[in-house]
Amino acid sequence: MFELKDNTIMVTGGAQGIGKAISSALAGQGARVAIADIDEAVAGQTADEINRQNGTAMSVQADITDLEKVKQAVTGVRKQFGAVDVLVNNAGWDRMIPFVETTPDFWDKVIDINYKGVLNCVFAVIPDMIEKNRGKIINIASDAARVGSTGESVYAGAKGAVISFSKSLARELARNQITVNVICPGPTDTPLTRQMQAESEFAQKILSKMDKVIPLGRTGTPGEIAAAVVFLASAEADFITGQTLSVSGGLTMS
Ligand SMILES: NC(=O)c1ccc[n+]([C@@H]2O[C@H](COP(=O)([O-])OP(=O)(O)OC[C@H]3O[C@@H](n4cnc5c(N)ncnc54)[C@H](O)[C@@H]3O)[C@@H](O)[C@H]2O)c1
Repeated sequence: MFELKDNTIMVTGGAQGIGKAISSALAGQGARVAIADIDEAVAGQTADEINRQNGTAMSVQADITDLEKVKQAVTGVRKQFGAVDVLVNNAGWDRMIPFVETTPDFWDKVIDINYKGVLNCVFAVIPDMIEKNRGKIINIASDAARVGSTGESVYAGAKGAVISFSKSLARELARNQITVNVICPGPTDTPLTRQMQAESEFAQKILSKMDKVIPLGRTGTPGEIAAAVVFLASAEADFITGQTLSVSGGLTMS
């Protein structure tokens, strides 16, 4: 059991999928969880679910690509739950398309959500963390950034940027006792991967082969990613920073 009582934790993209599992798991360990998501309705439902199960959660509408909206969301969280102690940058988005068929608009969208969204959220929460001389940032990247992923070149590049940014930020913020770590899920069953497969035969073909490529012989569950987040958010991980942990059945080994 990891004790997270007395922690305000903001989870971006916490309404569904991996973010929902992360939010529930953190609330299960006593954290006050703020779900920041572009989808206000589903975020509200997820917060209600957690509160019904005796957790403490709130939802706040935020498009992570918009720094002003993110700052407003952080202010809203501070008012209700206190300053953010732990930020989980989980919101992300992608579609599987061969690079030659993508468009510059698609590149912008992928980079804005998966990379610049992380910058915006970190930028909005770190003044409070620096003032308190404590804090944890956990960024959800992807094994796509570590081993490559056909049809996900731009996304993999953006997630690789998240890993590099996190290492530099970990060095910069160590003097403030703020840790920065990355979790890389492998293919995980979520609304995102279901949508990708529903929209494209190409995605279906690639994702259907994953069980054969992953050493442990299966894709992951959102709960398995959440367990690693709970550990990195806890005091037991106080001496861990600048690390990248794959939770992917051995897809990446390093
Ligand atoms: N599912 C996988 O196989 C997999 C693998 C590796 C990494 N990941 C990463 O895990 C994270 C969660 O993925 P998931 O599969 O649960 O996705 P998902 O689509 O099921 O959930 C993503 C959540 O993020 C929210 N979101 C999207 N854009 C947003 C924005 N601009 N502002 C705020 N919220 C926004 C969505 O509303 C949704 O609630 C992402 O960072 C994703 O890249 C997923």
